Amino acid sequence: MATVIGNLSPILLPIRLGNSGRCLVKTYKPIFKRNLAVNVRASSTSSTAFVETKPPTGPVLVENEVSSSSSSKKKHILACPICFDLLSWRSDPVVSVDSISGSSLQCSTCKKTYFGNETHLDLTAASGAKNYGESMPASTELFRTPLVSFLYERGWRQSFSVWGGFPGPEGEFELTKDFLKPVLGGNIVDASCASGLFSRLFAKSGLFSLVVALDYSESMLQQCYEFIKQEDDFPKESIVLVRADISRLPFVSSSIDAVHAGAALHCWPSPSAAVAEISRVLRPGGVFVATTYILDGPFAFVPFLRTARQNIRQISGSKIFLSERELEDLCRAGGLVGFKCVRNRAFVMISATKPS
Ligand SMILES: C[S@@+](CC[C@H](N)C(=O)[O-])C[C@H]1O[C@@H](n2cnc3c(N)ncnc32)[C@H](O)[C@@H]1O
Repeated sequence: MATVIGNLSPILLPIRLGNSGRCLVKTYKPIFKRNLAVNVRASSTSSTAFVETKPPTGPVLVENEVSSSSSSKKKHILACPICFDLLSWRSDPVVSVDSISGSSLQCSTCKKTYFGNETHLDLTAASGAKNYGESMPASTELFRTPLVSFLYERGWRQSFSVWGGFPGPEGEFELTKDFLKPVLGGNIVDASCASGLFSRLFAKSGLFSLVVALDYSESMLQQCYEFIKQEDDFPKESIVLVRADISRLPFVSSSIDAVHAGAALHCWPSPSAAVAEISRVLRPGGVFVATTYILDGPFAFVPFLRTARQNIRQISGSKIFLSERELEDLCRAGGLVGFKCVRNRAFVMISATKPS
């Protein structure tokens, strides 16, 4: 049965891309509030095409039906971050974001047990360690501070539109949905979700059978939980909050239909290890969609940027991407194909697929 995506404010996106390197123009809703032209590029090894977006016409149709019973899917995708083998519930399976507290899961192989606290399941490799503490690079640790987590959706995230040309949550959500069309109705991991800006939109859209809101930061997950609690009628049974490291994803191989990572690629300690992990957990035909920024165009004239970025990475842990080709290479190296991207100034949204 077809579902119509309704009530999203009209903004612009008229592009649908094939895997062949050709851009196919189709339907559409406007995506940016201002009348921005968006370049969309689909690449194969030999060809590149740019298409300028056009104003909208009708609604977007979703062909897959969304199953309302997601508890069985939750049971079968979670894996031990040490062995990558299936985790089984030792308590009643979590069927709502409210029932995580007191829940526990055990690895079928190493027998390690993982616990849920009030807000999330901790599925990091170090979970349960009492004396051992781990610190990550600054670009990860920064987001673990309660102040940054509090400020994230209260101004911090909005600033990306000003300096980077990010379309903002509604615009990005519309673009993302277009890339995710082949996997609508399946499960989605919102990797590095922070306080759950997009996880909440995914859950409320009803377009996915299950949303996993995943981040390394406990305080971001706490914020996400509080935002969910504040909303009446939030579909709490369709979302689960998980703490995990992007380079060690707690999912069974080939069990995930879609991975979304908004504004996070540049923060990850090793983007290549992360993409390889994403590739491992995606099922054949599964889709990876991510946003980040690229310092090209006028930034290409900044003296020493190319050499300085190595030092910036060493100090902050943050990766600066200088071209679309670099991102395409990253996806290909991680085993993903059919690279596509959408640009607006420094903002870029990329998508790639696990080969079928
Ligand atoms: C700039 S925020 C992006 C948040 C959100 N996805 C968005 O679109 O606004 C980057 C997020 O990446 C997370 N992160 C950084 N390193 C990580 C890691 N190793 N594993 C998982 N998440 C990580 C941070 O905790 C932070 O919440």
